[in-house]
Amino acid sequence: MKALVLSGGAGTRLRPITHTSAKQLVPVANKPVLFYGLEAIADAGITDVGIVVGDTAEEIREAVGDGSRFGIQVTYIPQDAPQGLAHAVLISRDFLGDDDFVMYLGDNFIVGGITGLVDGFRDARPDAQILLTKVPDPRAFGVAELDEEGRVIGLEEKPEVPKSDLALVGVYLFTPAVHEAVRSIGPSRRGELEITHAIQWLIDQKHDVHSTTISGYWKDTGNVTDMLEVNRAVLETVDPCEDGTSDEVSEIIGRVRIETGAQVVRSRIVGPAIIGAGTVISDAYIGPYTSVSEGCRIEDSEIEYSIVLRGSSITGVRRIAASLIGRGVEVTPSPRSPAAHRLVLGDHSKVQISS
Ligand code: DAU
Repeated sequence: MKALVLSGGAGTRLRPITHTSAKQLVPVANKPVLFYGLEAIADAGITDVGIVVGDTAEEIREAVGDGSRFGIQVTYIPQDAPQGLAHAVLISRDFLGDDDFVMYLGDNFIVGGITGLVDGFRDARPDAQILLTKVPDPRAFGVAELDEEGRVIGLEEKPEVPKSDLALVGVYLFTPAVHEAVRSIGPSRRGELEITHAIQWLIDQKHDVHSTTISGYWKDTGNVTDMLEVNRAVLETVDPCEDGTSDEVSEIIGRVRIETGAQVVRSRIVGPAIIGAGTVISDAYIGPYTSVSEGCRIEDSEIEYSIVLRGSSITGVRRIAASLIGRGVEVTPSPRSPAAHRLVLGDHSKVQISS
């Protein structure tokens, strides 16, 4: 069995972060979201992994390499433009050959991995298997309709009036039957070849499509709110450590990871939180559910329920909350005069000012 991981796409909902970097590499508890997926695939005993890449190919290659650190072997499959999840399957035919495969969306986060799911598929071997979960607003997802016995009878992609509250989770299991399906469908209203439509084609052709409904934790990390929420959930589970240093007057409370070379000076950190390698925290408060990446500086400031990416500095600012701060960002107070906010914001930035 092989795996196909989708790491192309545009990531418009995570702008401006995704203007300059891949959304699958935004870190959760200081580890790229994509790495959790690759680890889950390796844990399920799959070693032959194709990664579909787009404009951010170079960055993904640099982060993942040949896959040996995950115990997998990676083949990169370039996709010219994000023309849809079924298009990604179409262009991966040579890599996939006639093997069964799991398709994993690189921006999805599934707690508990996929081992049980993959084992179940290997035993029952339906033509395709999808994963579903109940969501409060299904309109942003693929939505499944089941009959009384739980069989999938219909699928719709981002319907305005959903027929159920069961959303498609970004993990799909396929036999080679899917190849005819992705060749047979046309582009959707949004101009993409939808995997949802390919699976509907399989159902219409009387192929056997199974579904499993999960109630555990799942998030599509496509927007900032979800990203912060996944970060919160993962921080609850990280092992505390103090590989860096903290001085005597600092207070470290609860589940906190202070990574190698990080320094905490005259500060209070209330976990769960993670302070990346080489980061300096001084005269600051780091509140619960905060991940600060490596090489940052947080001075005379307060921050909580946030993610700060590498090499950023925050000085003299209180209080930052529910924020996603990109790489190499500087946040400082404005000079006394004129009393004004002074902003240099990238395209599609979002700022909420409390004054
Ligand atoms: O997250 C689950 C949802 O994922 C499902 O409920 C939907 O049925 C499914 O269509 C998909 O919807 P999204 O709109 O969230 O997909 P998105 O465009 O964000 O792409 C998902 C991943 O696949 C992401 O890592 C980018 C990658 N991708 C996407 C496209 C369209 C590619 O590699 N190539 C592509 O052409």
